[in-house]
Amino acid sequence: MTSEFAIQRGPRSVVAEPSGRIDALEADALVAFLAEGGIGTGAVAEIDRATGGMLARLVNAGEISGKRYECVPLLAPAGLRVGQFVVVGIGKREDVDAGTLYRAAATATKHLSGRARTKVALVADGSWTTRQIEQAVAGSVVGTVGQDLYRAEKKRIRIGTIVWLGAPVEAVDRGAIIADGVNLARRLVNAAPDDLYPQTFAEEAAAVAGRTGMEIDIWDEEQLARERCQAMLAVGRGSSRSPRLVILRYRGPGRSEDAPDLALVGKGVTFDSGGLSLKPSDSMLTMKCDMAGGAAVLAAAATIAALRLPVNLVAAVGLVENMTGPAAYKLGDVIKARSGTTIEVHNTDAEGRVVLADVLDVVRNLKPARIVDAATLTGACMVALGYDVAGLFTNDQAWCDEVAAAARAVGEPVWQLPMYPDYDDQIKSEVADIKNVGEGRWGGAITAAKFLERFVGGIPWTHVDIAGPAFAEKPRPWIDGGGTGCMVRAFVELARGR
Ligand code: BES
Ligand code: MN
Ligand code: ZN
Repeated sequence: MTSEFAIQRGPRSVVAEPSGRIDALEADALVAFLAEGGIGTGAVAEIDRATGGMLARLVNAGEISGKRYECVPLLAPAGLRVGQFVVVGIGKREDVDAGTLYRAAATATKHLSGRARTKVALVADGSWTTRQIEQAVAGSVVGTVGQDLYRAEKKRIRIGTIVWLGAPVEAVDRGAIIADGVNLARRLVNAAPDDLYPQTFAEEAAAVAGRTGMEIDIWDEEQLARERCQAMLAVGRGSSRSPRLVILRYRGPGRSEDAPDLALVGKGVTFDSGGLSLKPSDSMLTMKCDMAGGAAVLAAAATIAALRLPVNLVAAVGLVENMTGPAAYKLGDVIKARSGTTIEVHNTDAEGRVVLADVLDVVRNLKPARIVDAATLTGACMVALGYDVAGLFTNDQAWCDEVAAAARAVGEPVWQLPMYPDYDDQIKSEVADIKNVGEGRWGGAITAAKFLERFVGGIPWTHVDIAGPAFAEKPRPWIDGGGTGCMVRAFVELARGR
């Protein structure tokens, strides 16, 4: 089942055809990307000529608009030796970016992978940048994979060979590797919580590390106790599945053994029942997604290693199951976190920050130059920003700007929220150093970030709250519902430097 980053790829399933010639092409389908306002002069115009002007006629008649993610299949087109010609809209020409192309390519291949196809060709336009080509290629692979893990009759069938016309080989290879990362994160999120729990997530991480050449340490319950990770252990105590801390290391070519340039930290709550502050059933239903930050961090690290990026990286994922068993941590408990800071528990459903307290402390002691974490941390962030936008929080504006620029360069929407010092007062406790919730629910995403800030020891740090974008309850034009793989592409882009 685990195909991502397979060391021995079979015949490559994504290939480049840099010449981009369509006259000789035979395929089940040909995909072209059309902007609003006519067929222009690029690759689309060339295909239009081959079809004797059919596309131009349809555009002029208003049958095809080029609006974002419009997907029009034209069957058995005259003049082309393809079963169908799929025209995908990319919206206004001046607004087209890497994210648009990622989603447009995924829209086309999602449509086509409803049936078995031997060969599908997509045409890159000569005007696209290398980044845009990579992201389009990644999208074309991501679109072919859905939520079929547990279904006998698959709704998506992987395309035999995807051919990218007019795209350089290196960009296509990188795009395919990035897609492996996104699909790894999606698969882990989509796995049922009784299949994917701390131990099995750690086993998956070990397998991925082996395939991509990363070092891995896995701390089990005893090791966590020796390392004074009492915050992680407290959250895990209500579960029959014990916690794990996964630490991955990758040293880029030409990098010395110095401290890591970058640390990625992920929340890996493999299921969040809320603990004794139990969630209502409706809110609990999708809580297998509460390890999406951890999945993104593992997948991004694997992708960075597979791309051999010149960076020293450490990645850490705190894995626990938040349950209500007889030993569960309780409201009013005071936990001594690894850093020595004491935490009064006011709500066992605010468990992510408690887990991350220890993970961040482990990571900061490795002295990375910068830290970024991804966590499905708060419903409050979804109230603020909705489903599609991740929240950013930082103690270092320049670093946050870099994270935001990387995310936007690959089309992952993010928005920064403020960290005014006044919010710190809200997590003061009567009995301990801090408590694990703010005063009331207002600004809940920020008070959660303020809690995390206490454990990063002044290292430049940006927190990404992905509670909204990590999991799509409904399908979108470009992706089936379920795990989205959000922040994998952003973190890979971040590691490439701006
Ligand atoms: N995992 C949840 C946050 C979440 C909510 C993620 C919806 C994805 C979708 C987190 O552990 C949580 O329960 N947070 C609480 C915090 C509160 C008790 C202070 C929340 O947001 O309600
Ligand atoms: Mn919770
Ligand atoms: Zn949670």
